[in-house]
Amino acid sequence: MRIYDIIKKKRDGFALSKEEIEFFIKGYIDGSIHDYQASALCMAIFFRGMNEKETADLTLAMAHSGDTVDLSRFGELTVDKHSTGGVGDKTTLIVAPIVASLGCVIAKMSGRGLGHTGGTVDKLESIEGFNTELSNEEFFQQVEKIGIAVIGQTGNLTPADKKLYALRDVTATVDNLSLIASSIMSKKLAAGSHTIVLDVKYGSGAFMKTPEAAKELAEAMVKIGNSCGRKTAAVITNMDIPLGANIGNALEVKEAIEVLKGNGADDLREVCLTLATQIVSLSKNIPENEARALTEDALYSGKAFLKFKEWIETQGGNPKMIENPELLPSPAFSREVKAPADGYVEKIDTEAVGIASVILGAGRKTKEDSIDMSAGIIISKKTGDNIKAGDTLATLYTSTENTLDSAEEKFLSALSFCENPPEISPLIYEVLK
Ligand code: URA
Repeated sequence: MRIYDIIKKKRDGFALSKEEIEFFIKGYIDGSIHDYQASALCMAIFFRGMNEKETADLTLAMAHSGDTVDLSRFGELTVDKHSTGGVGDKTTLIVAPIVASLGCVIAKMSGRGLGHTGGTVDKLESIEGFNTELSNEEFFQQVEKIGIAVIGQTGNLTPADKKLYALRDVTATVDNLSLIASSIMSKKLAAGSHTIVLDVKYGSGAFMKTPEAAKELAEAMVKIGNSCGRKTAAVITNMDIPLGANIGNALEVKEAIEVLKGNGADDLREVCLTLATQIVSLSKNIPENEARALTEDALYSGKAFLKFKEWIETQGGNPKMIENPELLPSPAFSREVKAPADGYVEKIDTEAVGIASVILGAGRKTKEDSIDMSAGIIISKKTGDNIKAGDTLATLYTSTENTLDSAEEKFLSALSFCENPPEISPLIYEVLK
């Protein structure tokens, strides 16, 4: 077999066989297939697409390209959730303790922030002492003891995806449905959980700009998960508006605590309860209405908050910061961004809002950058809100005063205003199984 022929076959619009896809992944990992050849194949896939079988074959080849996690010792209730990336998306911090308090087992690896989107691992590290680098033994012991542990990516999981994703990132081949679906699902399959619930975002801050495109991606991923014997569902949610009010690491932990205490923003709580309902319903094999009642009870009874505290403390985090969130990192400087005129917030470019928070220090501009855990944005007015000139639209927070001007400019560029109430796209577009 020759990679040249595989590239040519895809270039000319033909479907690749399982053997050809496996040959490509194996060769790319062992170095016998070069970056320039892999780039050419990704670009051919970008233009020609892949059918369902090719996408599933690529997913499995990548899932088996390195180590896989064996969670069989924890039985059938192992669950995982994945978000396709968002701004202000702190759902894992809320959903994980809700479902763990109901007996589901979370042995989860999460990511760091990427571009304009935040990452769960960075958020957790804003809590003093929290250890995201447990050894394998510590990780499994903690899951055994309290039913929940979340760490950064470790080991040699899906090395083919790691290498290919980095290549796609610099060759304009990220946003292809088959490549995204196989990239995400290869990691989920390798991570070992029985139940997988995907939060597929649509809108200005997401890979998929329209709900229809997000649905296509969701359908592809659900099919892959189910065909590989995992119970899989996808919830298609709105990322045209940042989720909740807070963006930035410590700020998001504070907001997650608010929600776990039964308060907080309605949109954030609803997305969390919807995701938790799917996880509980699928993993325990119970109807959705029963699962919803259980998740609401876990949240409003304080059971989920207790589980959150137990989780943070067991994983080394300072419990005082959970009891009193004012102790979480707080910034030296802040600035209120004011509305320029009367009217309504018509649209928010969520990606630009995410970039404004990166400018303030909440994310990395290069891989080596350190994060200002206290930096970020609290949004006071969202799409559809009525505003008067001079109202506070948002408050910017940072430890580096000289970032405020450019962050304010970026934030304001993200918003457009109108005279009449605008149409609002749905928070939850659809749930797929
Ligand atoms: N997230 C991933 O893990 N992979 C993609 O290709 C896109 C988003």
